Order: sequence, then C-alpha cells, then structure tokens
Amino acid sequence: MTEPRSSGGAGSAGAGATRVEPAVSLEGHFAVPGDKSISHRALLIGALCDGDTRVRGFGRSGDTESTLNAVRALGAAVDEDGDELIVHGVGLRGLRSAEIDCGNAGTLARLVAGPLSFQEGVFTLTGDESLSSRPMERVAVPLRRMGANIETTDGHLPLTVTGDALHGIEYTLPVASAQVKSAMLLAGLGARTRTTVLEPAPTRDHTELMLQAAGARLTVRPASVSIDPAESLKLGTVEVPGDFSSAAPFIVAATLLPESRLTIHDVSLNPRRTGLLDVLERMGGRVGILARRRFGAEPVGDIEIRHAELTATTIEAHEVPLLIDELPLFGLLAACARGQSRVRGAGELRHKETDRIEAVVDALRAIGVRARGYEDGFTVQGVPTRPRGGKVEARGDHRIAMLGAVAGIVSRTGVEIQGAESVAISFPGFFDLLETLST
Ligand code: S3P
Repeated sequence: MTEPRSSGGAGSAGAGATRVEPAVSLEGHFAVPGDKSISHRALLIGALCDGDTRVRGFGRSGDTESTLNAVRALGAAVDEDGDELIVHGVGLRGLRSAEIDCGNAGTLARLVAGPLSFQEGVFTLTGDESLSSRPMERVAVPLRRMGANIETTDGHLPLTVTGDALHGIEYTLPVASAQVKSAMLLAGLGARTRTTVLEPAPTRDHTELMLQAAGARLTVRPASVSIDPAESLKLGTVEVPGDFSSAAPFIVAATLLPESRLTIHDVSLNPRRTGLLDVLERMGGRVGILARRRFGAEPVGDIEIRHAELTATTIEAHEVPLLIDELPLFGLLAACARGQSRVRGAGELRHKETDRIEAVVDALRAIGVRARGYEDGFTVQGVPTRPRGGKVEARGDHRIAMLGAVAGIVSRTGVEIQGAESVAISFPGFFDLLETLST
C-alpha cells in the first residue's frame, strides 16, 4: 500500500457531509457498544418475563432506543442507568394495546409482531421511510398460518396486529432470516401446540439462546428449531457482549492499514455472526482471538488484528447469513485484495436499510474501484493498493456510512460521506472512536 498524505480522522466538510482523511495505521485497545441484536431481544423478551430482567452492557443506539420506547408503550417499565437497564416484565400475555413507532429498526418491527399476535389487544406498527419500504409479508405470512390476525399496507408498514389464539405450525423459511425465525419462535411461546421453523441456511441464534436461558423449551437441530408453548419466562440477568458488527469496520480498517495493531475487548463471537473472520482468514487476514469465554450462553472474546496482504475470495449463499451485515465491508476488503472477489446468493441485501447491492457497488465505484452488481450479489476487481477516495452517499444506511468511513481511512485522498450521521442507528460514537485510534 502507498503511504497516505495526511493523518486520519473525521472532520466536518459542510452541511450534511463528513470528511474522513487517510490514516497511517490504527492502534489501540477498546470495546464497542453492546450487541444490537441481543439488546433488542433482551428488551422484548424481558418485557414478556415474570419479574425483573437486568440488562448489562445494553447497546445504546437509534435502533435499540426504538425498542426501548416500544416496550414502554406496551406497558413494561424500564429503569435506566447508563448502559444498565432493568426491565420490569409484564408476563407472557401482559402487553397492552399500543401504537409503536419502530423508527429504522427492522429487527423490532419483525420480532415484536410475533408475541403481539397472541396478546389481548390491538397493535399498530409504523416506521420511518426506509423501514416502511421493507417487506413485512415475510413475517405476516407464517404468523397468519399460526392463526394471527395481521394486516400490512401492501406488504409494508403500517401493520396492524389484533391478538388472537395461535396454534403451532411447521414452516420452512423461503429465505434465511433470523428476524422471521425469531418472530415465529416468540409467537410459538403463546401457541397451543409446538412450532417448528426450518432454515435454508443457519442464521443468528440469539433468540434461541435467550429463550432457553428464560426457561422456554426449545429443540435445536442442525436445520430447524422447535419451540413448545410456555407458561411463563424468567431471565434474571443478561450480559450483552460487544457487537461484532460494530467491531467489523475496525477489523477491516486495521487489516488494510500497514503497521496497524488493534485489540477489541469483549466482542460477541457467536459463530452465526463471525463469518467475516472465516472469510478474512482465507483471504490471508491476521486475526487472533484471545480470552475466549461466555456471557451466559453467548461466546465472547478479545479480537486482535494486524495488517495483512489479502487475496480474492468468493462468498456463496450458505455463508451469506453469517456475515450479512458485514458484506458492504467485505466489498472494501475485496477492493484491496489481489484478484477478483464475488458475493453470490445475497439477494437479501436488496431488502436491507437500503438496496445494499446497489449502494455498495456505487460506493466502491465512487472511490475508484471496479465493481459490478448482479441480482443476488456483486463482483469486485481488487488491486492491492489504497483506493483513490471520493464521495460516498450513505443513503440513510448506517452500514454504508461506515463503509464510507473505513474507505476514507484506507484511501489515498480521503472520502466525503453524505449522510454520515446515520451511523447513530447502530453506533453513535463511531466517528470519535475512529479518530482516536487513527495515527
Ligand atoms: C438481525 C437479522 C438480520 C440482520 C439484521 C439483524 C436480527 O436480518 O441483517 O441487521 O437481529 O435478527 P435478517 O434476519 O432479515 O436477515
């Protein structure tokens, strides 16, 4: 890689734009905020529990704030003390009628539809413009088969759920989705009979692990999971590990910058989340895991990253759910690797906060990288040197804003990010941390 012209960091470049300058390397020891997926689940499942749930290391972000407001609207009080929360559960069938603004949070909108389906009450879910354009029938269809009374607006939000009696079903997910699987498992808690979800590929299993910790009866097999009806749940304490998806931008930046040395502490190492590490390893990355342990049932450890020269690779459909939210960053790794890389079987990227196939290809091209989009993925022509730099449009998508920021750090001329503030959806302190670690 060629040397940068100036030291790195994020600074303002006028209204709505943030400039990230090239850095020499990234150095430091730090932790990232609590896992977003686990934080959503701790609030939602905590609200359904009998008694109090203590949540330690709650990941504060725009999305989890939406879930905090949602559980309060549904009648569960939550005490807050920094990143420690106490959720006062109302019991499995104790949620009260509410109108819930899900903001940008797809996980909230999909997951909460499950348990609302068997409550006594009427619930309306709304969301921001991005969330209102994302598909909701994928969750409504299986829940209706369980007996739920759900109306979407042409397949989207606003969505209305009127509580009803549910029965268990056996359902094969048409696309691998932890959100849909989780909605069904949460609905299955209140169904009369057993619910079984079959997955086309393994997806994140935080819901299964947390429900088991809360006393629910689950049968987990390699390609399916069943849940039996529950009388009540009790969680006690949830310790939330650092979010691997928030660690990922730093893992990528440190890999690409010579002399970098980073250690990220207490990161979730749930194997359904860390596909990026496996991909990096076969590209030649140098990532070490220290101090492996568990927070409850969730694997955790410290991640140590050094700079490495990379070679191209292909990501196939079965691997996609294991790094679904890291695929934009993979595009940047691919851009700096020797050879042509591909992602296939990732059509789901078109249904994220924005169309992430189009957004990633446009962002890479904007910084001088040769990339091409397909219906279900993209290809990137890698060159083992710093990409040029340029202007990246975040399109209101936090993961694209982070891609732009890491691209700026590893570029020759820097990157101007339009809409960089969207990082707050998952990681409000992202730019400050990036600046602190940059040399
Ligand atoms: C999530 C599941 C994934 C992921 C999202 C969070 C979750 O979505 O992209 O950011 O917490 O269950 P899908 O399950 O729709 O793929």
